[in-house]
Amino acid sequence: MARHLITSALPYINGIKHLGNMVGSMLPADVYSRYLRQRGHEVLYICATDEHGTPAELAAKEQGLPVDEFCAQAHDAQKAVYDGFALAFDYFGRSSSEQNVEITQHFARRLNENGFIEERAIRQVYSPTDGRFLPDRYVEGTCPHCGYDKARGDQCENCTRVLDPTDLINPRSAISGSTDLEVRETKHLFLLQSKLQHEVEEWVAAHEEEWPQLAASIARKWLNEGLHDRAITRDLDWGVPVPSDTWPELAAEGKVFYVWFDAPIEYIGATKEWSDAARDTDPENRDWKSWWYDVDADVRYTEFMAKDNVPFHTVMFPATELGVREPWKKVDYVKAFNWLTYYGGKFSTSQKRGVFTDQALDILPADYWRYFLIANAPESDDSSFTWEHFTATVNKDLADTLGNFVNRVLSFSKKRFGEEVPAGGEPGEAEAKLGEEIARLLAEYESQMEALQFRKAAAALRALWSAGNSYLEEKAPWLEIKTDKDGAALTLRTAMNLIHLYAVVSEPFIPATSAAMRQAFALKDDTATWITADEARTLTALTPGIPFTVPPVLFAKLTDEDLETYKERFGGGPTA
Ligand code: 2FM
Ligand code: ZN
Repeated sequence: MARHLITSALPYINGIKHLGNMVGSMLPADVYSRYLRQRGHEVLYICATDEHGTPAELAAKEQGLPVDEFCAQAHDAQKAVYDGFALAFDYFGRSSSEQNVEITQHFARRLNENGFIEERAIRQVYSPTDGRFLPDRYVEGTCPHCGYDKARGDQCENCTRVLDPTDLINPRSAISGSTDLEVRETKHLFLLQSKLQHEVEEWVAAHEEEWPQLAASIARKWLNEGLHDRAITRDLDWGVPVPSDTWPELAAEGKVFYVWFDAPIEYIGATKEWSDAARDTDPENRDWKSWWYDVDADVRYTEFMAKDNVPFHTVMFPATELGVREPWKKVDYVKAFNWLTYYGGKFSTSQKRGVFTDQALDILPADYWRYFLIANAPESDDSSFTWEHFTATVNKDLADTLGNFVNRVLSFSKKRFGEEVPAGGEPGEAEAKLGEEIARLLAEYESQMEALQFRKAAAALRALWSAGNSYLEEKAPWLEIKTDKDGAALTLRTAMNLIHLYAVVSEPFIPATSAAMRQAFALKDDTATWITADEARTLTALTPGIPFTVPPVLFAKLTDEDLETYKERFGGGPTA
């Protein structure tokens, strides 16, 4: 059985992410990892903050902090939110780690030895006031095509034309506003991706059939446009330094690698961080290289990301890995997501529109969000977040279908039979029919999870919860008890078995609630070990006499007043 390596796109360091980021990478990766672990697979789920580049430097400057301090704080702040969302990473690293520096420099040296790196001189805008070269997007000015006066040096936001900073009329530094700009020549390292085009094409061809259409079509589009050589170094203070043994001159000038060069390498770097973190306590079980190096078929590697990240993961990073000419593990399956919108408009970090992950946790516990987001993941198309949809889903699926079922069954049984799973009655036709239905739905749920079809998996989970409600309505133990006490005991015992089954199979979606449901029963050595088809069919694993408690309400119903409060606080639409 292959081991599963799982990574989700590394969240950029500057600021807490919104719900759209969460549903497009980390959350589905966590759901999938949890599922595989429960099914007995060996899983390593790795993520990290992506810390280099100009935006980090600018965010640090805005806060008046040295960039390393800013990143350390921002990393901890993001980690706290992910803990709040119950993301069970095996390790959440930092792309600025010494491990990533070491592996990134190693990759660069190997690419150079293999003839895939070349030093080239380019002309770039320099701002004496800022004391630095300005990346294209940090030069602002008037668009020569449409006259928009806040056009960026890489593109005009108004007319969407692609620009060169030297095209701009009245150019100025976006950092200081200074208009004292010059064009200077500077040397950079270029990755000769054009030389790798053919190999990447062959590699993609061997994998794309298995990938979801979204990932495969984006990879194809990039390949069809042709792989261009690109600069992989920058004139910045903050980044992985160019190694001085190989490029003494560039190193002396303080060049660092471009953030998109070292970020994907941090998937490997963070795995080494994970290994090194247990060097003294658990050295044998944490061998980072055994997940990445020369492991081809032993490890199945799945990546999660939003669609804008697909070119980097399906084409550019594989090109880097191929050019290194060492057997580094390459991705097997790319799970890509469309956008989650906020009332049909863009979630925007800069304009603070939408719901941020820390705010979400202030309002309601993680399970509410986890379930809603995955059940509405933007898989085949963009999907829209609205407060109306969110409150309706919470009320119907979580509060009524699941929460109420659990509460009703346990409270009623406690009242009539005491605090133990009741004895009496023999399973009959209704139980046989229910068992078949549950076994069928469980198989459907498993196959959707295995296919990484999260919305369909959520639908199957919801159908499992509904099947319990239908059974309870049909058997109506509150009436049955008047004429057939044993029959009512059987119904309640069967329903309790469903609760236990729900507690296990809902774990990837709603881990805290699932734990609360499992803990309702005083089971020895209870774990979230997966339910077999046979257990699903017979629903008799929980036997008479097992003590239970009635857990507090699992999901609070959201009121019209709540809905109004949320809409007022966050705005009820993209333009609000
Ligand atoms: O798009 C982003 O937010 C990037 N920080 C993703 C990086 S993914 C990986 F390659 F590191
Ligand atoms: Zn324009």
